[in-house]
Amino acid sequence: MQEVSLREKIETHTATVAVVGLGYVGTPLAKLALESGFSVIGIDPLKKNTPEALNSFPHFRFERNYKAVSRSNLVIICVPTPITANEVPDLSYLETAIDGVSKNFFAEDHVIPKLLILESTSFPGTTREMMLPALENRGLEQGKDFFLCYVPERIDPGPQGMEAGRIPRVVGGIDKISTSLGASFYASLGCQVHEVSRPEIAEMSKILENVFRAVNIALVNELSLLCRRMGINIWEVVEAAATKPFGFMPFKPGPGMGGHCIPVDPFYLSWRAKQFGFYTEFIELAGKINRSMPYHVVEWISEALNSKGKAAKGSNVLIVGAAYKEDVSDTRESPAIKVMELLEKGGANVSYHDPYVETLKVAGKEYKSRELTPEAIRDADCVVIMTAHRAIDFRMLLGANTPVVDTRNALGALRKRK
Ligand SMILES: NC(=O)c1ccc[n+]([C@@H]2O[C@H](COP(=O)([O-])OP(=O)(O)OC[C@H]3O[C@@H](n4cnc5c(N)ncnc54)[C@H](O)[C@@H]3O)[C@@H](O)[C@H]2O)c1
Repeated sequence: MQEVSLREKIETHTATVAVVGLGYVGTPLAKLALESGFSVIGIDPLKKNTPEALNSFPHFRFERNYKAVSRSNLVIICVPTPITANEVPDLSYLETAIDGVSKNFFAEDHVIPKLLILESTSFPGTTREMMLPALENRGLEQGKDFFLCYVPERIDPGPQGMEAGRIPRVVGGIDKISTSLGASFYASLGCQVHEVSRPEIAEMSKILENVFRAVNIALVNELSLLCRRMGINIWEVVEAAATKPFGFMPFKPGPGMGGHCIPVDPFYLSWRAKQFGFYTEFIELAGKINRSMPYHVVEWISEALNSKGKAAKGSNVLIVGAAYKEDVSDTRESPAIKVMELLEKGGANVSYHDPYVETLKVAGKEYKSRELTPEAIRDADCVVIMTAHRAIDFRMLLGANTPVVDTRNALGALRKRK
């Protein structure tokens, strides 16, 4: 019975959706639900104001506590799931969110049945072993008071990324009814839906996607180190291999991995695997290679300075691009931060330019983005391209006297176009 009215509310877009955590994931999801006609309540105790993208929607309400959960029909959790410095999953945000949601389930003396969806990335078992008992321990009944699904987020950050509504969604419910309610909701947002038999499949599929990227990035990074030693241009190699119409997918080398997903998610799985006496060697190896890349970049900078008879100590090094990937402002886990930290430690005078990152904190020191001008390039002893934002005019660096370490082949691509 509960299921029928909830399904009807979803299908008629009259459900009230609470989105818990309004960050990179929660904000576009809330926007998509609003655009699809749902009323949305954004719950984020750590945010001061409504995100700009949601300001103009009359059916949106921003709350800094969980009280509105009681009147919601759907609750979608999109809080951070980082790792600690020791590569242990930090589930504290998720625990607080689950606690806040489960405590606020009752509307006065009754419960409005809800579909709970976890979108935060975590290891297989999180939905069943962490979320389910937290709700049941409050006397709530699965299949009556609540339905439960895991639906991994697959956002494609950046302006060239695929729109949220066009990305197919994997839905894994704790039972068939939960899966079908979850599928109904994402279909109502215009998404293609792939239903799976259990939340664990959906949880593992998300991590597989990111392990796949981490391992392939590591592979091409390792080959790029070998190619450098052999005097072979890795970019031309990848471009050539990519002409194979089957069985090959190109990955580009770079200065290391960044963002909230690829450097983090695989380690959720390796941590979990150890509880089963299993060691995920591909994940560890990929992590080792990708994390070593900023150290290689610093070696290349030293070589470039050396070619001009200079030492890193006391040299002016200008970093171009601080975000972890092109055309975004996200600096989480960005390899540029590690490179800047290592250069500072080595006594270099470091500055940076990034049109999307106004200020940057590196090892406690605050930096401010500077203009990229011919004078700035001339004043530098070495320029390091860390991120190839399309908004940067890299032509300025062609023919400059200052040595350039180009970790993204931004100049190679320009020369090719000429
Ligand atoms: N950013 C991505 O590209 C991406 C892609 C796929 C999956 N994910 C996953 O989605 C989840 C969220 O990532 P994000 O990038 O949106 O993080 P984020 O840091 O941008 O946003 C998380 C938001 O949650 C809020 N928050 C923290 N604790 C809270 C709590 N207890 N209750 C309510 N709100 C709380 C924070 O204030 C913040 O606004 C993570 O698990 C991440 O791994 C992210």
